[in-house]
Amino acid sequence: MILARTLRDAGSFLFKMREDKRSVGLVPTMGALHRGHLSLIECCNSENAATVVSIFVNPTQFNDPKDLKNYPRNLERDISMLRESGCDMLFVPGIKTIYPRPDLRIFDFGGLERRMEGQFRPGHFNGVAQVVSRLFDIIKPDRAYFGKKDIQQLAIIRKLTAMLNSNVEIRACETLREDDGLAMSSRNVLLSAGERENAAIINRTLREAVRKKGMEVCELKQWVADVINNNPFLELEYFEIVGSSDLQPVNHWAGTEDELVACIAVRAGRIRLIDNVFFSNFASL
Ligand code: PAJ
Repeated sequence: MILARTLRDAGSFLFKMREDKRSVGLVPTMGALHRGHLSLIECCNSENAATVVSIFVNPTQFNDPKDLKNYPRNLERDISMLRESGCDMLFVPGIKTIYPRPDLRIFDFGGLERRMEGQFRPGHFNGVAQVVSRLFDIIKPDRAYFGKKDIQQLAIIRKLTAMLNSNVEIRACETLREDDGLAMSSRNVLLSAGERENAAIINRTLREAVRKKGMEVCELKQWVADVINNNPFLELEYFEIVGSSDLQPVNHWAGTEDELVACIAVRAGRIRLIDNVFFSNFASL
């Protein structure tokens, strides 16, 4: 595995790949890797001649400076995980490599950037769009891999590639979970023992919610809010039922052609946790 820290390091590897007409897949990450990230890399390995993983904790997507400061970082451990993963090049750029000058671009995603996560993390998706477009410019991958766990991020990135007329093919990968259902996340290591144990309720509640289609949507929202907020370790930020292609909230079951997804964000102490489930995966179980 090649470790590239500069444009020049990355450029020589990528030049060789292009010369040999080998396809390149990119898995963008912020490090503190877990098995969810590794599943994206596996998917990338199976579809491309070469896999590039990037690790960059992107300051422009953090609306809360404390969250940026506390974000887990463990490059040595990440490197040893990546050596076993089939990654061909690890790109670890410095801030000046990604942002040689301040990125002043403001993207308009038609309101999608202001709903759900956007309401609680203003400016977050603008920062995600800045860094992802910059990574695409540098790596010029054939395909890029993103997790369905961050479903709104995935929708934003699909819009971004369309807006930029980019040829990068966006591939979506399933959410990997701990045995108790909690979606894997770099932030899980920051949970206290009590928060970690109770965080399993988030996915359990989502799965129960998608089986309660007999209830009106507003009653279901109230039921979810009660279950989460009655737990002393958890506090609900939002629960929405949205169409999977446009992520528009749905307030009535009737008249929705699109596949539905239940999306949730919960605070466990200082840590925000998000998750979602597709109705088609659970409603009939
Ligand atoms: P990060 O949180 O490190 O996640 C990197 C990728 O891993 C994202 O596409 C995310 O959706 C995916 N992922 C996270 N948890 C997962 C899980 N449990 N199962 C499957 N995939 C999972 O998302 C970001 O970084 C950043 O916003 C980034 C896109 C790198 C831009 O800075």
